[in-house]
Amino acid sequence: MTLPQYAMGTQYDEKMASRPREETVHGEERTRRKKHRALLPMIVALAIIYFTTNSVRRGLHHDHHAGRGEVGQAVKTALDVGYRHIDDARVYRNEEEVGAAVFESGYKREDVWLTSKLWNDHHDPRDVETLNTTYLDLFLIHWPIAFNRDGSVYNKELTDDPFPTWQKMEEMVAKGKVRNIGVSNFNIWRLSKLLSHPNITIPPAINQVELNFYNPQPGLLAWAKEHNILIEAYSPLGGDGQVGRTLNLPVVKEIAAELDITPAQVIISWHVQRGTVVLPKSVTPARIEENLQVTRLPDALFEKLEAAAVGHKPQRTLNPSESWGLPFDLFE
Ligand SMILES: NC(=O)c1ccc[n+]([C@@H]2O[C@H](COP(=O)([O-])OP(=O)(O)OC[C@H]3O[C@@H](n4cnc5c(N)ncnc54)[C@H](OP(=O)(O)O)[C@@H]3O)[C@@H](O)[C@H]2O)c1
Ligand SMILES: *[C@@H]1O[C@H](CO)[C@@H](O)[C@H](O)[C@H]1NC(C)=O
Ligand SMILES: *[C@@H]1O[C@H](CO)[C@@H](O)[C@H](O)[C@H]1NC(C)=O
Repeated sequence: MTLPQYAMGTQYDEKMASRPREETVHGEERTRRKKHRALLPMIVALAIIYFTTNSVRRGLHHDHHAGRGEVGQAVKTALDVGYRHIDDARVYRNEEEVGAAVFESGYKREDVWLTSKLWNDHHDPRDVETLNTTYLDLFLIHWPIAFNRDGSVYNKELTDDPFPTWQKMEEMVAKGKVRNIGVSNFNIWRLSKLLSHPNITIPPAINQVELNFYNPQPGLLAWAKEHNILIEAYSPLGGDGQVGRTLNLPVVKEIAAELDITPAQVIISWHVQRGTVVLPKSVTPARIEENLQVTRLPDALFEKLEAAAVGHKPQRTLNPSESWGLPFDLFE
């Protein structure tokens, strides 16, 4: 089967290269997009993962494949119920399956927002562009940590100064291979350093980070707003091992009962109201549908949940620093 233009796992298409590129998603452009696109399906994305977050933590990203077909089916379900934004990554090893599902669903490529991420062992400027896709709407540096090209940990020079990697990402925008570029798992310090690089021409549009009830990061959120960087919330329902705990919180259940919505809908609506793009992961059709039903929480209820979230010591669920054998905590 050929998957030109629509597939993420196929060769770059010259026709797409000559299309005028859109501006990066920030500033006025972001506002314009917000006005002119059906907003919700973009804001709530179907997040895809092909292996457990546990395997990322242990660095076993090579061997932990979920059942083939499951991801493609989830994408088709999501598109059918109205999602138009799919969050993927090179390391999940399912770009081809996702591309095929979008193509088979019959949606136009330009009506779907596809994100992928550069894995740690491809930060070397010679490797950044080996992306094998038609084009992506968003390409992120997955982690602020560069591994060496042979996969060994870690490349200090490219970690301390990611600009050579970033410059290649900027080139991909110029070539039309990606429409927007951003980062993931960057803290304020790392983002400031990249933003203040004298030769930067495209500031990161997005920072995708762990954001949930137990790790709400209000400081990062405020800082990003000030700097016109849109935050995407990964593990929004709580992430590894914490989803049940989050959805069973009394404050969440109370709000759910009051508004006659589900606990997951309370949490996702809260994220949207905080001004983030939300990436709930599910392969269960009923939940995929449930997660797209966002409600505006009345201010008092929103503030009640916000206060509960920021009112305790933050707990991050995903921090691979140790499992990667880094001599420092990547979030510090
Ligand atoms: N940038 C990064 O470094 C990074 C790191 C981690 C994650 N992520 C992204 O963020 C995504 C989500 O993170 P995550 O999987 O850790 O956490 P999550 O979205 O907070 O939780 C996903 C879990 O919640 C369940 N679930 C989904 N909707 C539900 C609902 N309505 N009611 C009850 N349970 C529900 C899912 O089960 P079922 O699937 O069985 O329905 C799954 O077990 C990942 O897939 C990935 O795309 C990015
Ligand atoms: C890249 O694209 C070529 C041609 O479509 C294909 O043969 C190859 O398997 C792809 N590689 C990856 C990593 O997707
Ligand atoms: C910025 O670009 C100029 C011109 O190419 C170059 O001379 C300079 O070394 C660059 N600065 C840094 C910090 O990379």
